[in-house]
Amino acid sequence: MSLTSKRIDWWEPQVGEEERELLIQVLDSNFLNDGEYTTQFEQKLAHLLGCKHVVAVTSGTSALFLALKACGIGPGDEVIVPDITFIATANAVTMAGAQPVLVDVDPNTLNLSPAEFKKAITPKTKAVIPVHISGRPADMPNILEIAENHNLKVIEDAAEALLSKLNGKCLGTFGQAGILSFSPNKTITTGQGGAILLDDDSLEVRLRELKDQGRPVRGTGGNDIHDQIGYNFKLTNLQAAIGIAQLDKLTARTERMKQTCMMYTEGLSDLEELTLLPFQLEKGEIPQWVDALTQRRDELVEYLQTCDIVCRRFWFPLHAHKPYQLPDDAFTNSTHLSAKAFWLPSSFSLTNADIEQVCNQIRKFFGKNQI
Ligand SMILES: Cc1ncc(COP(=O)(O)O)c(C=O)c1O
Repeated sequence: MSLTSKRIDWWEPQVGEEERELLIQVLDSNFLNDGEYTTQFEQKLAHLLGCKHVVAVTSGTSALFLALKACGIGPGDEVIVPDITFIATANAVTMAGAQPVLVDVDPNTLNLSPAEFKKAITPKTKAVIPVHISGRPADMPNILEIAENHNLKVIEDAAEALLSKLNGKCLGTFGQAGILSFSPNKTITTGQGGAILLDDDSLEVRLRELKDQGRPVRGTGGNDIHDQIGYNFKLTNLQAAIGIAQLDKLTARTERMKQTCMMYTEGLSDLEELTLLPFQLEKGEIPQWVDALTQRRDELVEYLQTCDIVCRRFWFPLHAHKPYQLPDDAFTNSTHLSAKAFWLPSSFSLTNADIEQVCNQIRKFFGKNQI
Protein backbone atom coordinates (compact mmCIF):
# COMPACT_ATOMS: atom_id res chain seq x y z
CA MET A 1 0.00 0.00 0.00
CA SER A 2 1.23 3.48 -0.83
CA LEU A 3 2.09 5.58 2.22
CA THR A 4 2.70 8.79 0.31
CA SER A 5 0.39 10.64 -2.03
CA LYS A 6 3.00 11.31 -4.70
CA ARG A 7 5.59 9.04 -6.26
CA ILE A 8 9.10 10.33 -5.67
CA ASP A 9 11.36 9.28 -8.52
CA TRP A 10 15.10 9.04 -8.19
CA TRP A 11 15.46 11.32 -11.22
CA GLU A 12 13.29 13.34 -13.56
CA PRO A 13 14.48 15.31 -16.60
CA GLN A 14 12.79 18.66 -17.21
CA VAL A 15 12.15 20.64 -20.37
CA GLY A 16 9.97 23.72 -20.77
CA GLU A 17 8.92 26.61 -22.96
CA GLU A 18 12.51 27.73 -23.66
CA GLU A 19 13.36 24.35 -25.23
CA ARG A 20 10.14 24.47 -27.25
CA GLU A 21 10.87 27.96 -28.58
CA LEU A 22 14.41 27.13 -29.68
CA LEU A 23 13.27 23.86 -31.25
CA ILE A 24 10.69 25.76 -33.30
CA GLN A 25 13.42 28.16 -34.45
CA VAL A 26 15.44 25.18 -35.69
CA LEU A 27 12.41 23.64 -37.40
CA ASP A 28 11.61 26.99 -39.06
CA SER A 29 15.21 27.29 -40.27
CA ASN A 30 14.83 23.89 -41.99
CA PHE A 31 18.46 23.06 -41.07
CA LEU A 32 18.07 20.19 -38.64
CA ASN A 33 21.56 18.71 -39.01
CA ASP A 34 24.68 19.56 -36.97
CA GLY A 35 24.97 23.30 -37.58
CA GLU A 36 25.02 26.73 -35.99
CA TYR A 37 23.04 25.71 -32.88
CA THR A 38 25.52 22.88 -32.35
CA THR A 39 28.40 25.35 -32.62
CA GLN A 40 26.68 27.75 -30.23
CA PHE A 41 26.10 24.93 -27.73
CA GLU A 42 29.78 23.93 -27.98
CA GLN A 43 30.95 27.52 -27.47
CA LYS A 44 28.71 28.10 -24.47
CA LEU A 45 29.96 24.88 -22.87
CA ALA A 46 33.62 25.76 -23.53
CA HIS A 47 33.13 29.17 -21.93
CA LEU A 48 31.35 27.69 -18.93
CA LEU A 49 33.88 24.91 -18.35
CA GLY A 50 37.03 26.91 -19.07
CA CYS A 51 38.43 24.74 -21.84
CA LYS A 52 39.53 25.76 -25.33
CA HIS A 53 37.40 23.35 -27.36
CA VAL A 54 34.18 21.39 -26.98
CA VAL A 55 33.18 18.91 -29.68
CA ALA A 56 29.52 17.89 -29.42
CA VAL A 57 28.63 14.32 -30.38
CA THR A 58 25.78 11.82 -30.13
CA SER A 59 26.45 10.41 -26.65
CA GLY A 60 28.92 10.13 -23.80
CA THR A 61 29.85 6.69 -25.13
CA SER A 62 30.68 8.00 -28.60
CA ALA A 63 32.58 10.89 -26.97
CA LEU A 64 34.78 8.38 -25.11
CA PHE A 65 35.24 6.27 -28.24
CA LEU A 66 36.24 9.29 -30.36
CA ALA A 67 38.59 10.65 -27.68
CA LEU A 68 40.36 7.27 -27.58
CA LYS A 69 40.57 7.10 -31.40
CA ALA A 70 41.82 10.69 -31.65
CA CYS A 71 44.54 9.84 -29.11
CA GLY A 72 45.64 6.98 -31.40
CA ILE A 73 44.46 4.18 -29.10
CA GLY A 74 43.44 0.92 -30.75
CA PRO A 75 44.19 -2.80 -31.12
CA GLY A 76 47.03 -4.09 -28.95
CA ASP A 77 46.67 -1.23 -26.45
CA GLU A 78 45.45 -1.45 -22.87
CA VAL A 79 43.34 1.22 -21.20
CA ILE A 80 42.86 1.30 -17.43
CA VAL A 81 39.26 1.71 -16.26
CA PRO A 82 37.81 1.68 -12.70
CA ASP A 83 35.72 -1.38 -11.84
CA ILE A 84 32.83 0.80 -10.62
CA THR A 85 31.36 2.78 -13.50
CA PHE A 86 28.58 2.53 -16.05
CA ILE A 87 29.61 -0.16 -18.54
CA ALA A 88 29.85 2.48 -21.32
CA THR A 89 33.33 3.41 -20.07
CA ALA A 90 34.69 -0.08 -20.80
CA ASN A 91 32.54 -0.58 -23.90
CA ALA A 92 34.03 2.54 -25.52
CA VAL A 93 37.51 1.06 -25.04
CA THR A 94 36.35 -2.22 -26.59
CA MET A 95 34.74 -0.32 -29.50
CA ALA A 96 38.11 1.33 -30.16
CA GLY A 97 39.64 -2.17 -30.44
CA ALA A 98 41.70 -1.81 -27.25
CA GLN A 99 41.58 -3.87 -24.05
CA PRO A 100 39.94 -2.38 -20.96
CA VAL A 101 41.94 -3.29 -17.85
CA LEU A 102 39.77 -3.08 -14.75
CA VAL A 103 41.15 -1.90 -11.42
CA ASP A 104 39.68 -1.62 -7.95
CA VAL A 105 38.35 1.63 -6.50
CA ASP A 106 39.15 3.88 -3.56
CA PRO A 107 36.60 3.00 -0.82
CA ASN A 108 36.25 6.66 0.22
CA THR A 109 35.17 7.95 -3.18
CA LEU A 110 34.20 4.82 -5.20
CA ASN A 111 36.52 6.25 -7.88
CA LEU A 112 39.68 4.83 -9.47
CA SER A 113 42.33 4.01 -6.87
CA PRO A 114 45.63 5.65 -7.93
CA ALA A 115 47.60 2.84 -6.22
CA GLU A 116 45.68 0.14 -8.12
CA PHE A 117 46.05 2.14 -11.34
CA LYS A 118 49.85 2.23 -10.88
CA LYS A 119 50.00 -1.53 -10.20
CA ALA A 120 48.03 -2.33 -13.37
CA ILE A 121 50.35 -0.49 -15.79
CA THR A 122 52.09 -2.74 -18.34
CA PRO A 123 54.15 -1.95 -21.45
CA LYS A 124 50.88 -2.12 -23.40
CA THR A 125 49.07 0.53 -21.30
CA LYS A 126 48.37 3.65 -23.34
CA ALA A 127 45.68 5.47 -21.37
CA VAL A 128 43.62 5.69 -18.22
CA ILE A 129 39.98 6.74 -17.86
CA PRO A 130 39.26 8.13 -14.39
CA VAL A 131 35.50 8.38 -13.80
CA HIS A 132 33.97 11.00 -11.49
CA ILE A 133 31.10 8.95 -10.06
CA SER A 134 28.04 11.02 -9.02
CA GLY A 135 30.10 14.19 -9.67
CA ARG A 136 32.68 13.37 -6.96
CA PRO A 137 36.22 14.01 -8.21
CA ALA A 138 38.65 11.17 -8.75
CA ASP A 139 42.12 11.81 -7.30
CA MET A 140 43.30 13.74 -10.36
CA PRO A 141 46.62 15.10 -8.94
CA ASN A 142 47.91 11.57 -8.25
CA ILE A 143 46.38 10.06 -11.39
CA LEU A 144 47.92 12.78 -13.58
CA GLU A 145 51.32 12.32 -11.96
CA ILE A 146 51.32 8.54 -12.45
CA ALA A 147 50.09 8.95 -16.05
CA GLU A 148 52.78 11.50 -16.82
CA ASN A 149 55.51 9.28 -15.36
CA HIS A 150 54.38 6.43 -17.62
CA ASN A 151 53.59 8.54 -20.68
CA LEU A 152 49.88 7.64 -20.62
CA LYS A 153 46.97 9.65 -21.96
CA VAL A 154 44.30 10.70 -19.45
CA ILE A 155 40.73 10.76 -20.74
CA GLU A 156 38.33 11.80 -17.97
CA ASP A 157 34.85 10.36 -17.90
CA ALA A 158 32.96 13.35 -16.49
CA ALA A 159 29.59 12.05 -17.74
CA GLU A 160 28.17 12.57 -14.24
CA ALA A 161 30.16 15.67 -13.34
CA LEU A 162 29.05 18.68 -15.36
CA LEU A 163 30.46 21.81 -13.70
CA SER A 164 31.74 19.93 -10.64
CA LYS A 165 35.13 21.30 -9.65
CA LEU A 166 38.40 20.13 -8.13
CA ASN A 167 40.90 22.79 -7.02
CA GLY A 168 38.83 25.42 -8.82
CA LYS A 169 38.95 23.61 -12.17
CA CYS A 170 36.03 21.84 -13.86
CA LEU A 171 36.20 18.06 -13.98
CA GLY A 172 36.76 16.86 -17.52
CA THR A 173 39.39 19.55 -18.19
CA PHE A 174 42.40 17.96 -16.45
CA GLY A 175 43.59 15.37 -18.96
CA GLN A 176 44.22 15.26 -22.73
CA ALA A 177 40.43 15.06 -23.11
CA GLY A 178 37.32 14.75 -20.97
CA ILE A 179 33.78 13.74 -21.82
CA LEU A 180 30.25 14.69 -20.78
CA SER A 181 26.92 12.93 -21.31
CA PHE A 182 23.57 14.62 -21.92
CA SER A 183 21.40 11.52 -21.57
CA PRO A 184 18.10 12.05 -19.69
CA ASN A 185 19.42 11.37 -16.19
CA LYS A 186 22.15 14.02 -16.37
CA THR A 187 22.11 17.64 -15.14
CA ILE A 188 21.29 18.83 -18.63
CA THR A 189 19.89 16.62 -21.37
CA THR A 190 19.58 16.71 -25.14
CA GLY A 191 17.66 13.40 -25.21
CA GLN A 192 20.90 11.65 -26.03
CA GLY A 193 24.14 13.54 -26.53
CA GLY A 194 27.68 14.02 -25.37
CA ALA A 195 30.71 16.23 -25.68
CA ILE A 196 34.49 16.03 -25.68
CA LEU A 197 36.35 18.76 -23.77
CA LEU A 198 39.92 19.57 -24.70
CA ASP A 199 42.56 22.28 -25.19
CA ASP A 200 44.73 20.80 -27.94
CA ASP A 201 44.09 22.36 -31.38
CA SER A 202 45.26 19.42 -33.51
CA LEU A 203 43.29 16.92 -31.43
CA GLU A 204 40.20 19.06 -31.98
CA VAL A 205 40.68 18.98 -35.77
CA ARG A 206 41.10 15.19 -35.60
CA LEU A 207 37.92 14.81 -33.50
CA ARG A 208 35.89 16.90 -35.92
CA GLU A 209 37.11 14.73 -38.81
CA LEU A 210 36.37 11.53 -36.90
CA LYS A 211 32.85 12.60 -35.97
CA ASP A 212 32.04 13.36 -39.62
CA GLN A 213 33.24 10.54 -41.88
CA GLY A 214 36.89 11.62 -41.85
CA ARG A 215 36.35 14.85 -43.78
CA PRO A 216 37.96 18.04 -42.48
CA VAL A 217 35.26 20.21 -44.09
CA ARG A 218 31.65 19.29 -44.78
CA GLY A 219 31.21 19.86 -48.50
CA THR A 220 28.55 18.96 -50.99
CA GLY A 221 29.56 15.35 -51.52
CA GLY A 222 31.22 15.98 -54.88
CA ASN A 223 33.99 18.04 -53.31
CA ASP A 224 34.43 16.13 -50.04
CA ILE A 225 37.91 14.88 -49.18
CA HIS A 226 38.05 11.78 -46.97
CA ASP A 227 41.73 11.12 -46.25
CA GLN A 228 40.90 8.80 -43.38
CA ILE A 229 38.16 6.60 -41.98
CA GLY A 230 35.59 8.42 -39.89
CA TYR A 231 32.13 7.93 -38.42
CA ASN A 232 28.86 9.80 -38.08
CA PHE A 233 28.54 11.06 -34.51
CA LYS A 234 27.14 14.51 -35.20
CA LEU A 235 24.87 16.24 -32.67
CA THR A 236 22.03 17.89 -34.55
CA ASN A 237 20.74 21.46 -34.30
CA LEU A 238 17.55 19.96 -32.86
CA GLN A 239 19.42 18.39 -29.97
CA ALA A 240 21.70 21.41 -29.51
CA ALA A 241 18.70 23.76 -29.33
CA ILE A 242 17.43 21.77 -26.35
CA GLY A 243 20.94 21.80 -24.85
CA ILE A 244 21.22 25.59 -25.17
CA ALA A 245 17.89 26.08 -23.41
CA GLN A 246 18.94 23.63 -20.69
CA LEU A 247 22.22 25.48 -20.12
CA ASP A 248 20.28 28.61 -19.15
CA LYS A 249 18.84 26.64 -16.24
CA LEU A 250 22.12 25.13 -15.14
CA THR A 251 22.97 27.46 -12.25
CA ALA A 252 19.53 27.02 -10.67
CA ARG A 253 19.83 23.24 -11.09
CA THR A 254 23.28 22.92 -9.57
CA GLU A 255 22.27 25.14 -6.63
CA ARG A 256 19.25 22.93 -6.04
CA MET A 257 21.38 19.78 -6.26
CA LYS A 258 23.70 21.16 -3.58
CA GLN A 259 20.73 22.00 -1.34
CA THR A 260 19.32 18.50 -1.83
CA CYS A 261 22.64 17.01 -0.76
CA MET A 262 22.74 19.27 2.34
CA MET A 263 19.19 18.32 3.29
CA TYR A 264 19.96 14.61 3.06
CA THR A 265 23.13 15.14 5.11
CA GLU A 266 21.15 16.94 7.80
CA GLY A 267 18.31 14.42 7.74
CA LEU A 268 20.34 11.21 7.71
CA SER A 269 23.84 11.71 9.06
CA ASP A 270 22.98 10.49 12.60
CA LEU A 271 22.03 7.03 11.28
CA GLU A 272 24.65 4.42 12.17
CA GLU A 273 23.52 1.93 9.58
CA LEU A 274 23.63 4.30 6.60
CA THR A 275 26.59 6.30 5.28
CA LEU A 276 26.25 9.21 2.89
CA LEU A 277 29.39 9.54 0.81
CA PRO A 278 30.58 13.10 1.48
CA PHE A 279 30.75 15.92 -1.09
CA GLN A 280 32.92 19.00 -0.55
CA LEU A 281 30.28 21.49 -1.64
CA GLU A 282 32.28 24.47 -0.43
CA LYS A 283 35.07 23.45 -2.84
CA GLY A 284 32.76 23.42 -5.84
CA GLU A 285 31.86 19.73 -6.02
CA ILE A 286 28.40 19.19 -7.48
CA PRO A 287 26.45 16.11 -6.42
CA GLN A 288 24.66 15.12 -9.57
CA TRP A 289 23.23 12.21 -7.61
CA VAL A 290 23.41 11.71 -3.83
CA ASP A 291 24.88 8.28 -3.11
CA ALA A 292 24.66 6.26 0.10
CA LEU A 293 25.89 2.95 1.48
CA THR A 294 24.15 0.47 3.73
CA GLN A 295 24.52 -3.20 4.45
CA ARG A 296 20.70 -3.45 4.23
CA ARG A 297 20.50 -1.78 0.82
CA ASP A 298 18.19 -4.19 -0.99
CA GLU A 299 15.79 -4.39 1.94
CA LEU A 300 15.75 -0.57 2.25
CA VAL A 301 15.28 0.04 -1.49
CA GLU A 302 12.38 -2.41 -1.53
CA TYR A 303 10.81 -0.82 1.56
CA LEU A 304 11.06 2.65 0.00
CA GLN A 305 9.48 1.33 -3.16
CA THR A 306 6.40 0.39 -1.11
CA CYS A 307 6.28 4.06 -0.03
CA ASP A 308 6.41 5.20 -3.68
CA ILE A 309 9.98 6.38 -3.25
CA VAL A 310 12.27 5.18 -6.00
CA CYS A 311 16.00 4.79 -5.39
CA ARG A 312 18.53 3.45 -7.86
CA ARG A 313 20.91 0.66 -6.92
CA PHE A 314 24.53 1.01 -8.10
CA TRP A 315 25.62 -0.93 -11.14
CA PHE A 316 27.19 -4.35 -10.66
CA PRO A 317 30.97 -3.90 -10.83
CA LEU A 318 32.30 -4.27 -14.37
CA HIS A 319 34.18 -7.47 -13.55
CA ALA A 320 30.81 -9.12 -12.76
CA HIS A 321 29.42 -8.55 -16.28
CA LYS A 322 29.87 -11.36 -18.81
CA PRO A 323 32.00 -9.49 -21.39
CA TYR A 324 34.49 -8.41 -18.70
CA GLN A 325 34.14 -11.29 -16.24
CA LEU A 326 36.92 -11.80 -13.69
CA PRO A 327 37.07 -13.33 -10.19
CA ASP A 328 36.09 -11.08 -7.27
CA ASP A 329 39.48 -11.50 -5.52
CA ALA A 330 41.22 -8.59 -7.27
CA PHE A 331 38.30 -6.26 -6.61
CA THR A 332 37.71 -6.33 -2.88
CA ASN A 333 36.43 -2.76 -2.58
CA SER A 334 34.23 -2.65 -5.66
CA THR A 335 32.70 -6.07 -4.94
CA HIS A 336 31.91 -5.14 -1.35
CA LEU A 337 30.80 -1.54 -1.97
CA SER A 338 28.73 -1.86 -5.12
CA ALA A 339 26.44 -4.29 -3.24
CA LYS A 340 25.85 -1.66 -0.54
CA ALA A 341 25.63 1.45 -2.72
CA PHE A 342 22.56 3.19 -4.06
CA TRP A 343 21.40 6.63 -5.15
CA LEU A 344 18.76 8.50 -3.19
CA PRO A 345 16.15 10.45 -5.15
CA SER A 346 18.34 13.27 -6.48
CA SER A 347 16.36 15.15 -9.07
CA PHE A 348 16.59 18.95 -9.05
CA SER A 349 12.79 18.92 -9.32
CA LEU A 350 12.31 17.44 -5.81
CA THR A 351 10.68 19.77 -3.27
CA ASN A 352 11.96 20.18 0.29
CA ALA A 353 8.88 18.22 1.42
CA ASP A 354 9.84 15.36 -0.94
CA ILE A 355 13.34 15.19 0.54
CA GLU A 356 11.97 15.28 4.09
CA GLN A 357 9.59 12.50 3.16
CA VAL A 358 12.48 10.37 1.89
CA CYS A 359 14.54 11.08 5.04
CA ASN A 360 11.61 10.24 7.29
CA GLN A 361 10.87 6.95 5.56
CA ILE A 362 14.54 5.97 5.77
CA ARG A 363 14.59 6.94 9.45
CA LYS A 364 11.46 4.88 10.03
CA PHE A 365 13.08 1.89 8.31
CA PHE A 366 16.06 2.11 10.67
CA GLY A 367 13.78 2.65 13.71
CA LYS A 368 14.73 6.30 14.26
CA ASN A 369 12.57 9.32 15.15
CA GLN A 370 11.16 11.55 12.41
CA ILE A 371 12.75 14.93 11.57
C1 LIG B 1 30.06 7.23 -15.86
C2 LIG B 1 29.39 7.21 -17.20
N1 LIG B 1 30.14 7.04 -18.30
C3 LIG B 1 29.61 7.03 -19.52
C4 LIG B 1 28.26 7.18 -19.71
C5 LIG B 1 27.72 7.07 -21.09
O1 LIG B 1 27.05 8.19 -21.54
P1 LIG B 1 25.88 8.02 -22.63
O2 LIG B 1 24.76 7.31 -21.98
O3 LIG B 1 25.56 9.45 -22.99
O4 LIG B 1 26.45 7.28 -23.78
C6 LIG B 1 27.43 7.39 -18.59
C7 LIG B 1 25.99 7.64 -18.66
O5 LIG B 1 25.11 7.22 -19.16
C8 LIG B 1 28.00 7.38 -17.31
O6 LIG B 1 27.24 7.52 -16.21
